[in-house]
Amino acid sequence: MGHPIIGWEREVPVPDKHQFNHFLSAENGRLHLADFDLMTLFEDSAETPTMPSPLEVVYLPLIGRRIEAMRQIFADVIDEIGYSGKFHYAYASKANAAEEVVRTTLGAGAHHEMSSTIDVEIGRLMVRRGLLTPERMVICNGFKPSGSEYADNIIRFKQEHANLIPVIEDLSEIPPLIASQLPFDVGIRQKCYGKHENIYDMDDANSRFGMHLDDIWRAADYIEASPNLTLKLYHAMVGSQILRREDFVDWLEPPIEIFAKLRQKYPTLSIFNFGGGMPVPMTLDFDFDYHAFVRLLLTRIQVTCERYGVLAPDIMGEFGRYTTAEHGAHIFKVILVKDNDSELPWYIIDGSIMTSFPDAWALHEHFIVLPLNYLDRPFQQVQLGGVTCDSDDVYPPKLSKSPLYLPVETEDLHVGFFSIGAYQEMLGGVKGSKHCVLPEAQEVIIDRAADGSLTFEVVGGQQPADVLQNLGYRVTS
Ligand SMILES: Cc1ncc(COP(=O)(O)O)c(C=O)c1O
Repeated sequence: MGHPIIGWEREVPVPDKHQFNHFLSAENGRLHLADFDLMTLFEDSAETPTMPSPLEVVYLPLIGRRIEAMRQIFADVIDEIGYSGKFHYAYASKANAAEEVVRTTLGAGAHHEMSSTIDVEIGRLMVRRGLLTPERMVICNGFKPSGSEYADNIIRFKQEHANLIPVIEDLSEIPPLIASQLPFDVGIRQKCYGKHENIYDMDDANSRFGMHLDDIWRAADYIEASPNLTLKLYHAMVGSQILRREDFVDWLEPPIEIFAKLRQKYPTLSIFNFGGGMPVPMTLDFDFDYHAFVRLLLTRIQVTCERYGVLAPDIMGEFGRYTTAEHGAHIFKVILVKDNDSELPWYIIDGSIMTSFPDAWALHEHFIVLPLNYLDRPFQQVQLGGVTCDSDDVYPPKLSKSPLYLPVETEDLHVGFFSIGAYQEMLGGVKGSKHCVLPEAQEVIIDRAADGSLTFEVVGGQQPADVLQNLGYRVTS
């Protein structure tokens, strides 16, 4: 297998109008993110604010575009194969819980998935703002043992937003819901992470999420027998960033079969929720046919349900990475070229790779890296270094086989990391104090107004005093 393609891999310039993928292209030697010329953010211009580097770019129109694209694919396949259920797009907010992201997913009509008590507060704020409207389903995943703040908060929130579906992770989560006496629709979560040959094998999965087969049936019986709970949803998440559609559907096969058996006994069970896992272009060699995947999945569900003599269910996905990976970019300036007889020249950037994208060093994850300017000039193979003093603050990641090429010209060279909008910011932490006390970068949130023009909201980064105060220093002027 070849290496992941993380950028331009040649010494010759990038041809004009080259399309790297569906959201990145070259034009007149400059990089465009979904038609937006990123370099304009660093120049004096009447149309855009002039921003410093490093800079986080949040490009909200890409979120709505992704949600709409997936809805359209499901609608097309449902039509093509005569599938009897509906599709429900839910946003898994753990991928990026920033206000502008949640506001955008709800604005695009997505249902909402959450996993902790602070998530409930976010939901509450969104109800009050009229963005989380009554028909929207809120799926409450995560651990919610009896007496926990999250369990109590879900019960309180139910009184503000009726369409709340707690997903049972463990049998002990059911009694507080019954005790509330509120009429809850409920989900049950299957232990099923990874590949399994049949429904019994899933019990061997080494996963702390979900219930094994016996408890799934016990939970369903318990819910059915309760006066105020209705079994509505079955949750089975088998992995994340699953790159082969056949694997994705094969791994879901045993849960689909259990769903069909459950539905025979509990006809109120109407939603099959496959959770997350939808892959995204983290690198430029990404090749996943979403339409073909959805066709395969819905056909498999249809066939299995027919075999068990039950109606095909509504289908729900909780899209985290898919919703948000592409809308986020992080731009740095090359501040030093250091040729110290290392294997390749070092391009030192004005920020930290490891604190901005923890998965790059923790999981050796690849992201797309491209220059914003000089795409029409010669390139050379280099390595990127962050300004921290940490030997892991480098890119490509240490164990990577992927070469990184950047322009030879480095005067005012700006370099962007792309597909970083999911998880990276949440894992690295927002604000707070970071490795080598580097302050957090400024941010620009770009959106599209009703008239089609772009809008720019600048969010200040951290000042030295913010960092010092976080660390307990008393800052006096
Ligand atoms: C329960 C649940 N749903 C959805 C997701 C989102 O997954 P992804 O980012 O692969 O879409 C996760 C991620 O961990 C999850 O735990």
